[in-house]
Amino acid sequence: MADDTTDTKSSNQMWGGRFASGPDAIMEEINASIGFDKKLFAQDIRGSIAHATMLAHQGIISTDDKDKIVHGLNTILSEIEGGNFEFSRQLEDIHMNIEARLAALIGPAAGRLHTARSRNDQVALDFRLWVKEELEKTERMLTGLIAAFLDRAEEHAESVMPGFTHLQTAQPVTFGHHCMAYVEMFGRDRSRVRHAIEHLDESPIGAAALAGTGYPIDRHMTAKALGFREPTRNSIDTVSDRDFAIEFLSIAAIAGMHLSRLAEEIVIWSTPQFGFVRLSDAFSTGSSIMPQKKNPDAAELVRAKTGRINGSLVALLTIMKGLPLAYSKDMQEDKEQVFDAAESLELAIAAMTGMVRDMTVNTARMKAAAGSGYSTATDLADWLVREAGLPFRDAHHVTGRAVALAESKGRDLAELPLSDLQAIHPDITDKVYDVLTVEASVASRKSFGGTAPSEVRRQIAFWRARN
Ligand code: ARG
Repeated sequence: MADDTTDTKSSNQMWGGRFASGPDAIMEEINASIGFDKKLFAQDIRGSIAHATMLAHQGIISTDDKDKIVHGLNTILSEIEGGNFEFSRQLEDIHMNIEARLAALIGPAAGRLHTARSRNDQVALDFRLWVKEELEKTERMLTGLIAAFLDRAEEHAESVMPGFTHLQTAQPVTFGHHCMAYVEMFGRDRSRVRHAIEHLDESPIGAAALAGTGYPIDRHMTAKALGFREPTRNSIDTVSDRDFAIEFLSIAAIAGMHLSRLAEEIVIWSTPQFGFVRLSDAFSTGSSIMPQKKNPDAAELVRAKTGRINGSLVALLTIMKGLPLAYSKDMQEDKEQVFDAAESLELAIAAMTGMVRDMTVNTARMKAAAGSGYSTATDLADWLVREAGLPFRDAHHVTGRAVALAESKGRDLAELPLSDLQAIHPDITDKVYDVLTVEASVASRKSFGGTAPSEVRRQIAFWRARN
C-alpha cells in the first residue's frame, strides 16, 4: 500500500516520536556506535538489571514487570554470549539494541525499564564498569610482570653487567639490580591503577539525562548492587565526565612508556654486538632471506604499541577539551580509544612478561662488558679519597690521567702496573687493585637502594612481600 512515506525508512523506534522520517544513510553511519559499543553488552545488562530491581523495590514499577524485564535481559545475555543476537545499526547503540530486543521478547513491560534513566547515565555506567574491570585486569597483569622480574632478579642478584648513562658504560651494576629498576616502575604503574580504581568507584546510574529525576529512586541501592563504593554526587558532572577513561589512558601511556623502554633495551641487548640476552624462539622471528637472523619482533611491536596508546590519550583529551557541560555526542568517540589502548596494553604486558621469563641471560658476556670501558674508574677515585685522603675533585683528576694512560696503552685500569699508577700519584699502593674488579665495585655499593647484591636482595624481599 503506497503512501507518501513508503520510500522513507521508519524513524527510530526508541526516540523517533517526533521524527517523520528516518535518518539519511550517512547520518546513520556517523551516528551509530553499535559497531564498537557492543563490547559493553554485559555491563549494559548488569546495569539494567540493577536499575529495574531498584525501580521495583521503590514501587516505581511492579514486581511482575521487573521479573519479566530481568528474565528477558538474562535471555538476551545468553543470546549475545552464544552469538545468537542480531545487532542492528538502525538501532544505533548497544543500549537501544538490547532494549528493542527486550520489547520483542517481553512486550510492553520492556518500555518501563527506561523510567528514571537516560542513555546519558546508562552509557556513563556501562563504560565505567568496563574501565573498572579493565583496570583490575591491568593490575593483575602488572603483578605477573613484576613477579617475572623478581624471579630474574633473584637468579641474577650477583651477575655483573655494565650500567649505562648516555648508553655509555658508566659503572658496573648487577643484572638483578637492573631488573629491580623495572619492578619499581611497574610497581608505580600498578599503584596508579589502584588509585584510578578508587577514583572511578562511584555509580553514575540515576543521574538521568543530566539533572537527576523526580522519581523516588535509590541510587545507593544501585551503587551497592553494581559493586560501587557510593553513587556520584553531581548529576551534571556524572553524565559529562570522562576523566576516568582519560585516567586509564594516561596510566596506559605511562606504563606503555616503561614497557617501551624495556623493549628497546631488549632490542639492544639481543644484538650480536651486545649479546647480553638471547630471546627464546617463542618471542622472536627469523628472516626470510638472512638465515642467521633472529629478530626481536615482539619487543619492537611493544615499542610501537606505545605510540598507539599515546595517540589514544591525545585523541580523547582533544575530543573532550572543548565540550560544554553536560553530555555531547562527541563523547561517543571515547570508547574506541579506550578499547584500542586496552588491547595494546594487554598485549604489551603479556609479551614482555613472556620475554622476561624466557630470555636467556649471557652472564659471561655481561661480565666481560662490565669490565671494559674503564667502568671502575669511579672506584679508583673513591679509593684515592678514602685511602689517600684526596678531595674528590682531585681524585677525579688523577683518575682521569690514569684512564688516559690506560687508553694510550690499550689496557684496562687493572692491567696498569703499579709503577705507572704511582707515577700519576705516589700514594697509590697495590691495595688499589682490590677495588678495580667489577665484583668489588658492585659489592661496595651498599648504600640503600644501591647495586650491591646484598642490597638487591633487600629490594627483592621488600617487593616479594608486596606482590
Ligand atoms: N551511544 C551513545 C554514546 O556512546 C549513548 C548516549 C547517547 N545519548 C544521547 N543523548 N544521544 O555516547
